[in-house]
Amino acid sequence: MRLVPVPDVTQHAISVGSVSHAYARPDSGVVQTLNSVSLDIRKGELLCLIGPSGCGKSTLLNIIGGLVSPTAGEVRVNGQPMRGPAPKEIAYVFQENTLFPWNTILENIKVALEFQGVPVSDRQDRANQAIEAVGLSEFAHSYPHQLSGGMKQRASLARALSLQTDILLMDEPFAALDEQTRTYLGEELSVLLAATNKTIVLVTHSLTEAVFLADRVVVMTARPAEIKATINVNTGHPREPSFTTSAEFSDLRNELYALLRDEIEKTVGGFVGRAAARDRERRAVAGEGGARS
Ligand SMILES: Nc1ncnc2c1ncn2[C@@H]1O[C@H](COP(=O)(O)OP(=O)(O)O)[C@@H](O)[C@H]1O
Ligand SMILES: [Mg+2]
Repeated sequence: MRLVPVPDVTQHAISVGSVSHAYARPDSGVVQTLNSVSLDIRKGELLCLIGPSGCGKSTLLNIIGGLVSPTAGEVRVNGQPMRGPAPKEIAYVFQENTLFPWNTILENIKVALEFQGVPVSDRQDRANQAIEAVGLSEFAHSYPHQLSGGMKQRASLARALSLQTDILLMDEPFAALDEQTRTYLGEELSVLLAATNKTIVLVTHSLTEAVFLADRVVVMTARPAEIKATINVNTGHPREPSFTTSAEFSDLRNELYALLRDEIEKTVGGFVGRAAARDRERRAVAGEGGARS
């Protein structure tokens, strides 16, 4: 594992400073999700967040995007403290398809541009450019239900790109897609993003996707999430599909899995352990009952 040198502060697009977070639970308890997470993200960097399911990745992304407030600590974007959503600076692509079903792809993008305050005269051109960038020009006037899952995610990406923000936050954008489609979209994304110089934070549960796309992969622990390790991927963008069969790729992927394995076990193993304990209890009770009868 290579540790990342502390980058020049003036270069940070995003600074996460000692961020902790807990959700309130209905029973008046709390779910502690993040424990003093600090992370500096350089301008133009593609950073992947990876960690066991439920550890707090989406929560961290939402805190970076100003959609959720941290319980402690702060996030700075371009040096300014985040106080709420910043649609002029940050665009989102979510796992679920968030397109309006009653609007065509073109209309969906124009609505987003309207929310962002882009003048009417610029909306059509900006929307068309973004649709072209993701190869959907032929389907600009189609409705979301007329597109495949992969095309809908491309349309969501086009909407995010049309906003021309410097920062793009992506929360498992390909998770609902089949493996071939997600591999292909990952390759497309690498080509597309190489040309944009955007700062991107991508949450993924795919080790392959993380190594293929990231400049840096941040591995998070089981909840409450802390940063367990950071791994650099030094190959330039855009990355060729052949990168995935290189020795460097498999070494990095293996290193990531080794780091994640313990954390996944803590999450999944805890559940299996509890289920096994319940089973033992049930059998013990049944045994006692049998002895009494
Ligand atoms: N709105 C919420 N209220 C209460 N608990 C939540 C809420 N959102 C998420 N959680 C809980 O917080 C933890 C972290 O969630 P999340 O950030 O979505 O994890 P991840 O994206 O890593 O899978 C999970 O245990 C989840 O159940
Ligand atoms: Mg999530």
